[in-house]
Amino acid sequence: MSDLAAYVAGLPKAELHLHIEGTLEPEQMFEFAKRNGVAIPYASVEEVRAAYNFSNLQDFLDIYYAGAEVLRTQQDFHDLAIAYFDRAAADGVVHAEIMFDPQTHTDRGIAFATVIEGLLSAQAEAESKHGMTSRLIMCFLRHLSEEDAFATLAQAEPWLDRITAIGLDSSEIGHPPEKFARVYAAARAKGLKLVAHAGEEGPPDYVWQALDLLEVDRIDHGNRSLEDAALTRQLAEQSMTLTVCPLSNLKLCVIGDLADHPIDRMLDLGLSATINSDDPAYFGGYVAENYSAVAEARGLDRAALATLARNSLEGSFLPEGDKAARLAQLEDYLAQQ
Ligand code: ADE
Ligand code: ZN
Repeated sequence: MSDLAAYVAGLPKAELHLHIEGTLEPEQMFEFAKRNGVAIPYASVEEVRAAYNFSNLQDFLDIYYAGAEVLRTQQDFHDLAIAYFDRAAADGVVHAEIMFDPQTHTDRGIAFATVIEGLLSAQAEAESKHGMTSRLIMCFLRHLSEEDAFATLAQAEPWLDRITAIGLDSSEIGHPPEKFARVYAAARAKGLKLVAHAGEEGPPDYVWQALDLLEVDRIDHGNRSLEDAALTRQLAEQSMTLTVCPLSNLKLCVIGDLADHPIDRMLDLGLSATINSDDPAYFGGYVAENYSAVAEARGLDRAALATLARNSLEGSFLPEGDKAARLAQLEDYLAQQ
């Protein structure tokens, strides 16, 4: 391991933008397909990896939703999540806020309970095994209707004390945040935190809508905010956390080259940017790899990497006391360097 990689792996950090369905490694895809008797359109792990060549978000989503077909049982969701928590622990993640897409599963006949109970048991195991805390973010698929989102919120009712936030993901362009303003208001009234993907492919106006109409607590991605100086100022003034995903941005052609990634520009503009992996099984790296790759490409120094880790803990939905304890853990680590 290089010095930089060792430093990054040791940084106590939170991961705030991670789709659990996006941690399905090709090896697991074959394992789950076999044990569930599901046919998959690939002959080998290599063939699966070769298919992971995307020109945009939709290219990826088509393959990602097809991959999720192999997830059928509570055990599958448990195994998927614990494999992620194990990898995240090795990357220095002390707290993870993971997104899941119930509609991807309920629409093919898998019960909401099957999905969430598998995730909850993995969260408990990660806490006892690694001391890692975690939270669940339930995402609505924005290409589906407002009515579908309301139905999903109703299905989640028995578990709302174990769901921390709602999110909005899937195809961004053509599905602006305003489409979900009433669902977000309903979720807010139930005491849920609010996040939304905005400004990944969509225009700055979608980020404005997420702020003004959804009243989100965090923006997922937010890259295109930089095209609007007033928006950038607003985000900085509000100390709005942006969950940025460098390798995702590269693989989905949000940027042409990692050397052009705006992460240091975001920090220079006073934005509370964080580094996350999004869908690591599809984009070629878990969270530490995202830190290292963008650090190398943009020449980030250790102080900038520490700022990014600090932003991740500060931007988490941990209660203030737990947040302070994690921040102290980070400062201890930095003092030892
Ligand atoms: N679902 C999984 N990953 C996503 C991303 N990066 N953007 C939108 N929807 C997603
Ligand atoms: Zn995402």
